[in-house]
Amino acid sequence: MKVISIVGARPQLVKLAPVAAAFAQTAHRHLIVHTGQHYDADLSDVFFSGLGIPDPDIHLGAGSGSHGVQTGAVLSALDPVLSAERPDWVLVYGDTNSTLAGALSAVKQHLPVAHLEAGLRSFNRRMPEEHNRVLTDHCADLLLAPTEEAMRHLANEGLAHRSELAGDVMVDICLKVRDAVLADAGPLPSLPDGIDPAQPFLLATLHRPDNTDDPARLSAILATLARLPVPVALLAHPRLVARAEQHGIKLEQGAVRVGTPLPYAGLIAAVLASSGVVTDSGGLQKEAFLLGRACTTVRPETEWIETLEDGWNALVPSPQDLTPTEWATIATRPAPAAARATPYGDGRAAQRVVQLMERAGGLQP
Ligand code: UD1
Repeated sequence: MKVISIVGARPQLVKLAPVAAAFAQTAHRHLIVHTGQHYDADLSDVFFSGLGIPDPDIHLGAGSGSHGVQTGAVLSALDPVLSAERPDWVLVYGDTNSTLAGALSAVKQHLPVAHLEAGLRSFNRRMPEEHNRVLTDHCADLLLAPTEEAMRHLANEGLAHRSELAGDVMVDICLKVRDAVLADAGPLPSLPDGIDPAQPFLLATLHRPDNTDDPARLSAILATLARLPVPVALLAHPRLVARAEQHGIKLEQGAVRVGTPLPYAGLIAAVLASSGVVTDSGGLQKEAFLLGRACTTVRPETEWIETLEDGWNALVPSPQDLTPTEWATIATRPAPAAARATPYGDGRAAQRVVQLMERAGGLQP
């Protein structure tokens, strides 16, 4: 079987790592196409080197742009690649513009498409990711769902016959890297200047357009972080840096200390060193849960509803609408005492992904 994985943005590289490792254990041919959606070294290259992912076989160099420009650039660059390679499966990951472009290019060439992390829904149609995942699910042939909840969403949309519960490949990589980090007494990750890892601090990220692109909202959210009673290590995504610069908003203020995005092992070490997480990232909500840190999510909803159980994750759509005391109480709450369930699988999802693709191998659109 010949499989082409299409990736382009940071979270897809994290998911690719265990999948590429699982394919490497088989006789299947696994090619990697990097769309170039993320091109900064700290959003892309360090994930390949740090997670032992083979170099991409093909790089499309699509780069940034509006949604249409970016999706269109990937789509048109992919057409000749897929038509030359004619793989048995095209495997797309998650919900980025690269995911949708990969699925569209494949399906229009009658190539079978498998969608990893199928069935997630926020039901928020303002999110670009929500369109990407709904459209990808509806055109893919094999829907690899991470959770029972995702399976239910797919069934509700009439897609049960194409859906399989694979588990979450992010558990595979998160637990593996956690064990390596804990076994290695090496230096702590490069946290922003002014953060002492021996003292309580919150780890924060912010990159969703809904939070970053409206200057009034961005500046209000940053002001709430600045007022927190513990230091906040803000690992600033390029979108956040670009929007803050554009609107003359200072990131480093009050409790906030600004750093750059970390390689995956560095991020896991930083979550373990932190006393809690504040984020709008999907992946980090789950990593906090898996690593036993309380997470506060600056969004009205989450696709990973299992993290809300027992208060491991708390949704705060607009921290600026709370009093400073209410906000500080939520953001600095300790990790719950309750034992966590294991809704995301057993850490062997990538092998199951390969098996499910083998089993469905004869399937043609
Ligand atoms: C994308 C995904 C999002 C995912 C996130 C992880 C979509 C619609 N969104 O969002 O689901 O959570 O990746 O990071 O696909 N930029 C750089 N260097 C880069 C990449 C981007 O400077 O290597 C800057 C550019 O100003 C760019 C902006 O960041 O315009 C946004 O990048 P883009 O890839 O469009 O979306 P993300 O916000 O990264």
